[in-house]
Amino acid sequence: MTLTVDEARQSGPQREEALGYAWRKGRGAVLRGCSVGMAWEATVVVVPFLAQRAIDEGLVPGDWRRLSIWVVALVASGVLTAVFSGMRHRAATQAGAYSDLGLRGRLFRHVLGLDTGFHDRSDRGDLLTRISTDVRTISLFIDLIVTWFAHASAVVLIVLFMLQMDLRMGLIGTAYIPLLLLLSAGVRRAFESRTVALREAAAKLTDILHENIFGVRVVRGFGVEPHQRGRYEPASNAIAARAMALVRLNTTYTLIGGTLPALAMVALLWWGGRWAISGEVTVGMLLAFSAWMVRLTSRSLGLLGRFNWYMQARASAGRVDALLNVDSAIADPPQPSPLPPSGEGLRFSNVSVKFGKRRVLDGISLNVRTGETVVLTGRSGSGKSILLSLPPRLYDPGEGGVFLDGVDVRDLCLETLRSAVCLASDDAVLFNDTIAANISLGRPDASQAEIEQAAQLAQAHRFITEMPDGYDAGIGERGLTLSGGQRQRIVLARALLVGPRLLLLDDASSSLDPATDAAVWQGLTGREQKRTMLVATQRRSVAARGDRVVLLDAGRIAAEGTDEELWRTSPLYRQVLSSEDEQGAQPQMVG
Ligand SMILES: Nc1ncnc2c1ncn2[C@@H]1O[C@H](COP(=O)(O)OP(=O)(O)OP(=O)(O)O)[C@@H](O)[C@H]1O
Ligand SMILES: [Mg+2]
Repeated sequence: MTLTVDEARQSGPQREEALGYAWRKGRGAVLRGCSVGMAWEATVVVVPFLAQRAIDEGLVPGDWRRLSIWVVALVASGVLTAVFSGMRHRAATQAGAYSDLGLRGRLFRHVLGLDTGFHDRSDRGDLLTRISTDVRTISLFIDLIVTWFAHASAVVLIVLFMLQMDLRMGLIGTAYIPLLLLLSAGVRRAFESRTVALREAAAKLTDILHENIFGVRVVRGFGVEPHQRGRYEPASNAIAARAMALVRLNTTYTLIGGTLPALAMVALLWWGGRWAISGEVTVGMLLAFSAWMVRLTSRSLGLLGRFNWYMQARASAGRVDALLNVDSAIADPPQPSPLPPSGEGLRFSNVSVKFGKRRVLDGISLNVRTGETVVLTGRSGSGKSILLSLPPRLYDPGEGGVFLDGVDVRDLCLETLRSAVCLASDDAVLFNDTIAANISLGRPDASQAEIEQAAQLAQAHRFITEMPDGYDAGIGERGLTLSGGQRQRIVLARALLVGPRLLLLDDASSSLDPATDAAVWQGLTGREQKRTMLVATQRRSVAARGDRVVLLDAGRIAAEGTDEELWRTSPLYRQVLSSEDEQGAQPQMVG
């Protein structure tokens, strides 16, 4: 069985992929952005230098010609600043967008590929947060690398300019930078752990919101709004508390980080001012230094802020990596077998399934021959749905094997398998799209005529054409604008359109009235060639249509035979099927 995300995280060394993957996607734009970003900062940083020359060589000696030259240079650098700034901004945004698209797409494909066991046990809010917020945080960081690099190059350039213009003043103005770096290293861990805590709180809230919004009918129906609000409020408060903890840390850090450059500025003005008075440095130099110090302060603080982003991106990358490290328990075999021609049909051979310590299927051996309809029945919880989910490999059995026309389903490529085996169940899942798109889900290339033919067989064509937009009607989130029976017929049409060699129906017509149900059955069974079907039901009218009925009890086969035989011989069979409100829909009814 697959691990959940948290179990995977605790299960040992992890492959680290998220940051690397996002980086590779954004790399081209980042490198472009970094080079124009550096040029941009250079055009800004050179300004105090040009101003110093204009003052010391033009203004103070009264040389009009030299003053003009330096002023022209100043104007030129201003124009270049504007051009490079625009280019840098564009490249940074592209870098973020490329890494966002790339990483999210990869994660989405990965999550879709994970097996049902994983999805059963995972927290959906948490998955959504990982795919949305965490990916966004990582891509924002990739975007910010460009700004970060520009700021870092500004710091380096300013330090070089300062040291070169006057070594003593340069040292006074830049001595605080190593201290700032030490401080950053000191708070790194605290930032990371608080960021993870905040993300986890957000995931919990998303989960509660998700359940309530999707389950709003249940929440209303049972009048549990106050209870749900009781769950929402602590979760929401937890987010606020954790966000505040992060803000407090950030404030302290920025406060200390901001005081250091301010002190350096005071020292510079103090000593520099004295040297200017004694004539050791010029007024233009003092002005240039003050301008550089202002820029240096804003740039190094900018770097610190970005550093915080790096911590957040690392925390998010850890969470995305944990998800990427979950391997699907159900995957394509290394060397898939080809699908053999239709032959012996479906065979379960001594199949057992365990969930934890509980055995829900125990030594099931069963054949469904080509063209045969086998009905599966049994009490609720007897294992019908689990047995039906084995052929399309929603789960794999712990012991034994499932064979389709002689080949173990685990040896087939999943795509091949799922076009050969189709499962339609009672909890009909529809997507927020048109009816036509929902029917053609398994065969997006199907023509309108094929879609309509499948809908006709599933007795859905009439009600669809009665709707204002017909096949193009949107059906809302999860098809909630349709009735239960209408949803079921769309799901059946979807299965029929795939034209699988094996059709598995799990209570798939439970919401239909007997007349519609009988008509749907006609459509399902096929005309020229009989369809191979395994059908789970607790309705006698359906059971009576099978060539053979298999009665499950607590995960084992309790009895096998025709409906009439079992009705005569098995008290359990009578008990399971007698609850149905018989409406004379089944001709074979006995006693
Ligand atoms: N994902 C799961 N994890 C753990 N146990 C499960 C899981 N799915 C099903 N079970 C257990 O397996 C047993 C068989 O479930 P299954 O859904 O196959 O019953 P069923 O015969 O289809 O019942 P019903 O008629 O109510 O649909 C049940 O006891 C159920 O609790
Ligand atoms: Mg079931």
